[in-house]
Amino acid sequence: MDHFDYKDGRLHCEDVPVEAIVSQLGSPVYVYSRQTLVDHYRRLADAFAPLQPTICYAVKTLGNIHVLKLLAEQGSGFDIVSLGELARVLHATHDPSVIGRVVFAGVGKTDAEILEAISAGIGMFNVESEEEFENISRLAARIGRTTRAALRVNPDVFDKQTHRYTTTGKKGTKFGVDIDRAPAFFAAHGTDEQVALDAVHLHIGSPIYSAEPYVEAITRALELIDRLRVDGHAINALNIGGGFAADYEEGKSPAAADYAEKIVPLLQDRGLDVLIEPGRHIACNAGVLLTKVLYDKQSAGKRFAIVDAAMTDLLRPALYEAEHVVYPATLPDGEQPPVRKVDYKPPGGQLVDIVGGVCETTDTLAAGRCLPELHRGDLLAIFSAGAYGFVMASQYNARPRPAEVLVSGGDWRVIRRRETTDDLIAHERAEG
Ligand code: LLP
Repeated sequence: MDHFDYKDGRLHCEDVPVEAIVSQLGSPVYVYSRQTLVDHYRRLADAFAPLQPTICYAVKTLGNIHVLKLLAEQGSGFDIVSLGELARVLHATHDPSVIGRVVFAGVGKTDAEILEAISAGIGMFNVESEEEFENISRLAARIGRTTRAALRVNPDVFDKQTHRYTTTGKKGTKFGVDIDRAPAFFAAHGTDEQVALDAVHLHIGSPIYSAEPYVEAITRALELIDRLRVDGHAINALNIGGGFAADYEEGKSPAAADYAEKIVPLLQDRGLDVLIEPGRHIACNAGVLLTKVLYDKQSAGKRFAIVDAAMTDLLRPALYEAEHVVYPATLPDGEQPPVRKVDYKPPGGQLVDIVGGVCETTDTLAAGRCLPELHRGDLLAIFSAGAYGFVMASQYNARPRPAEVLVSGGDWRVIRRRETTDDLIAHERAEG
């Protein structure tokens, strides 16, 4: 699953006891395991190897430039959605072959973003509307360049287990173009001189907990591609998007091989280059957020552990009611390592809500958990926090964002320093 294990009752990331990091850096802090990132990337690459896919890691998931660099070294390309994400990729690597494996998604690309991406030589745009396509073509012509695009189609498929806030492949969302309108789109733009429109893109949501929605969406996309080919369009690539789930709890999600088993046969021998855009499947279980208990409080018969992390550091529970396993980094004497289940009950455990210090009722990181008795100063690990963790952190309540650390074997290093209160006001200081 990952490289976060209890050894002699103490949580380790690879070979480093996580307390050692906190005793030097303080808390809260995000800690990532290099080996887990690599293992998860390799498992996807191996599972889909018969298709020789281009893997475009979704930068929005965990966009630290050191993580991007590591994944670029593994052969990854990147899925970006903004100028900022392009800048991150360009900081991580200048290898033109990696930049050529960058795909640019998003319904609201600005002119500046489009111009910069064309100039940088990205692989293709995932186009989400007619006006956007025309704009890319116009801007490419203005700077005398050509580029490439996939049409993002909305296949009207979704997974019932996916939170409504992260479902994207269903009719009526802002994403993509209705699949029925795709033939007319290609008829209008398939021979554009600036933008080679020769690919189809899907992204049906995130996370998708089984292969079936992919099978349904890909089947529809293949029918479309057959029709487009009959209409005389050369369709060279299909991007099946991201959304491969992660183990927020032990055994919760399919393995990369389970998705591939159903998806690969559909796409073999179709004369298509295949792209995938995984994020969470690679990064989620590669990270924990470490936080200390500030206060133990009882109110109306309920127990609260107030911790030094908050919704500002990990937004997912407040925004999606997402459930992350939380457990002390040091086990009580003789206690066995916990099963990574939200409803796990250790012997002698007590019910507690883990809450942050922000002035919002939704600032609950975990509700109604059974944990060993907690005391001020105890260190807790919030598991499966690598994906959509730090990247969604904010400075609300003027809280500096936490540090990020990358562990490799017995070594660790800070890959983003903790923000300071000076950082909070740096952009507001009057210019000299
Ligand atoms: N490709 C596209 C076009 C996407 O929009 C996304 C995610 C991905 C790939 C990567 O999806 P993944 O493999 O990581 O599931 N903040 C939410 C998730 C929002 C996902 C947005 N798009 C969360 O914390 O669950």
